[in-house]
Amino acid sequence: MTAERYVWQPTSAEIADRFGLPLDRVVRFDQNTAPEATDWTIPVADVPLHGLNEYPAASYRPLREAAAAYAGVEPAQVVPGAGVDELILLAARAFLAPGDQATAFTPTYPLYRIATEQQRATFTSSPIATASAAGGARLTWICVPNNPTGDRLPDSTIERIIETTPGVVVLDAAYAEFTGDLWGSWIARYSHLLVLHTLSKGFGLAGIRVGYAIGNESLIDAIDRVRPPGSVSTLSSTLAIAALSNPERMRRAVADLIVERERFRDRLTSLGLIVPPSEANFLLAHIGTTAPIVAAALMSEGLVVREFSHIPELTDHLRFTVRSQSDNDRLINTIERIRS
Ligand SMILES: Cc1ncc(COP(=O)(O)O)c(C=O)c1O
Repeated sequence: MTAERYVWQPTSAEIADRFGLPLDRVVRFDQNTAPEATDWTIPVADVPLHGLNEYPAASYRPLREAAAAYAGVEPAQVVPGAGVDELILLAARAFLAPGDQATAFTPTYPLYRIATEQQRATFTSSPIATASAAGGARLTWICVPNNPTGDRLPDSTIERIIETTPGVVVLDAAYAEFTGDLWGSWIARYSHLLVLHTLSKGFGLAGIRVGYAIGNESLIDAIDRVRPPGSVSTLSSTLAIAALSNPERMRRAVADLIVERERFRDRLTSLGLIVPPSEANFLLAHIGTTAPIVAAALMSEGLVVREFSHIPELTDHLRFTVRSQSDNDRLINTIERIRS
């Protein structure tokens, strides 16, 4: 069996080139990143450059301490990684053997399937998140809030899944900053729950590639055993510590983004699109059968949105990252023009 591979969108430079656009006219509405780097990003000049001839200390103790203090857990309950993506692959490597079964509730983040199949384990999915769907899976992937739908499973459903599955539950909390759930008290209650966090979304630092997992010490040890010793660079780790130690600025940026999300949603709805509420920094809009054509037309104007022609239940939808008010208005005005 050949495992499915992750497919990347064209880069902004490729799109600018293809459509003859200045690079600064290309706006990414497809990657669920922050509209701008938050003002607490520390100047590179402040990063200690001495010691860059050495590897980072593989224990990442200062980064673990900063993440633990932020998430309300102990440093021994934290393991860092190069973004949640690396931690997803490591969780599959740590907890799945060939022939095991892992499950997820779809539509969801495609890397769960890819990570599962790379371990030669079997991926099953169910459209409804229920404890019985998780059944006897060796690993259950849940995404809270969920990408691409933007909804958040109720706590009671998450509890039921965790309490009835004997396997490890990996809860991808990439968008946690938008709901404020950090899950620290949950990992104290459930020894088979591993929660994945990132600096890429609420903190607005997707470029530094830092994430961390929190969980019971034995789960953390299982990830530690399979991770590379130094996948987070010294520079990234320094920036992540600065951000995690000063979350107030992130909270202000997230609060502003949520206000803009609701305005953006209202404007899209007033165009006649069906846009369910979202708990994250993106909106999933029902466009109809023209969705792929609308996406292509938007791309030719430098507006890159996420389309789903390869996912049967979502072919009529497009997903839009919430960006700045002016970028969002540019997108809305262009959609209005294309559809008229
Ligand atoms: C659900 C989910 N998990 C993980 C990621 C990747 O996170 P990171 O940048 O920390 O690798 C994304 C990015 O879009 C995501 O939507």
